[in-house]
Amino acid sequence: MAQIKTVGVLGAGLMGHGIAQVSADAGFEVVLREVDEEHLTKGLGRIEKQLSRAVEKGRIEQSGADALRGRIAGTTQYGELADCDLVIEAITENLPLKLEMWREVDEIVKPDALFATNTSSLPVINQAAVTNRAERFFGLHFFNPAQVMKLVEVVKCVTTSDEALAAGVAFAKQLGKLTVQTKDKAGFIVNRLLVPYMLDAIRAYEEGVGSIEEIDAAMKAGAAHPMGPLTLADFVGLDTLGSICDVMFDEFRERRFAQPPTLRKLLAAGWYGKKSGKGFYEYRGEEPVANPGI
Ligand code: CAA
Repeated sequence: MAQIKTVGVLGAGLMGHGIAQVSADAGFEVVLREVDEEHLTKGLGRIEKQLSRAVEKGRIEQSGADALRGRIAGTTQYGELADCDLVIEAITENLPLKLEMWREVDEIVKPDALFATNTSSLPVINQAAVTNRAERFFGLHFFNPAQVMKLVEVVKCVTTSDEALAAGVAFAKQLGKLTVQTKDKAGFIVNRLLVPYMLDAIRAYEEGVGSIEEIDAAMKAGAAHPMGPLTLADFVGLDTLGSICDVMFDEFRERRFAQPPTLRKLLAAGWYGKKSGKGFYEYRGEEPVANPGI
């Protein structure tokens, strides 16, 4: 299998910008593609902000940060991905959109390149099957923030060759990540366990077991979690959480994966969590405050 030198990342959002940054940090050349200049500038801006913070904190020299940034080329054209050795998609969690994107990218990127999806929950095989390289297609599931979280779930779908899977594992290890291989089942390992937990926290809130702040404070102090479950839901993005629920509910038909009414209401209001400024909390001042509208 050809050596990976250049990595294409599709989507510069919450996950894509982080995947691009960690890849460039590990020395890979990165082509980061977004739909338009506005989204691209925002994604690149996030990387630049993280790099400035890292320089301020003395974790990286300015010259190192400049070199890392220099390895990331932003684009709005699929054509720029043609010579990539590995393309990782991190676009919105919407299967028809992903399929449309892969059909187009598959025609452009060199035939021996590897393709990976960062999907949080969608079965990998559905995406692999619309390309002409299903044996070189696998899942690489990063966690938010990708710059910090150690894990990458590497997902083998029924068509993935052992050789391609090994290349995926080796790539994630080159990024300094811990890899865990999982089967191609909706939610893989982490979301299979984490999503029902966040949904149960929402149900506990609906049942009046505790307030938003109390539920979060309890899990932080009582179970040593870095964030409470409702803060985490806002952090993951309520739109993403809602999409994951729908996929998992559709797959397993179990109540524990169903969207609780409060989540539906927040989504209907366009409150997607931290990224949109409002979710279970409002993010206006120094510290988040519980959303009084819920
Ligand atoms: N990018 C880069 N670095 C970041 C960062 C970001 N977005 N956010 C935080 N960091 C770094 C900080 O710079 C800091 O580094 P130093 O210690 O070297 O200074 C370090 O992480 C700790 O950050 P903070 O001190 O600001 O805050 P914290 O200690 O509260 O940690 C956190 C922040 C790492 C996000 C922590 O709260 C945490 O681990 N939360 C849980 C995150 C989690 O569970 N993620 C998985 C979500 S599920 C998912 O992603 C899968 C899916 O499919 C939905």
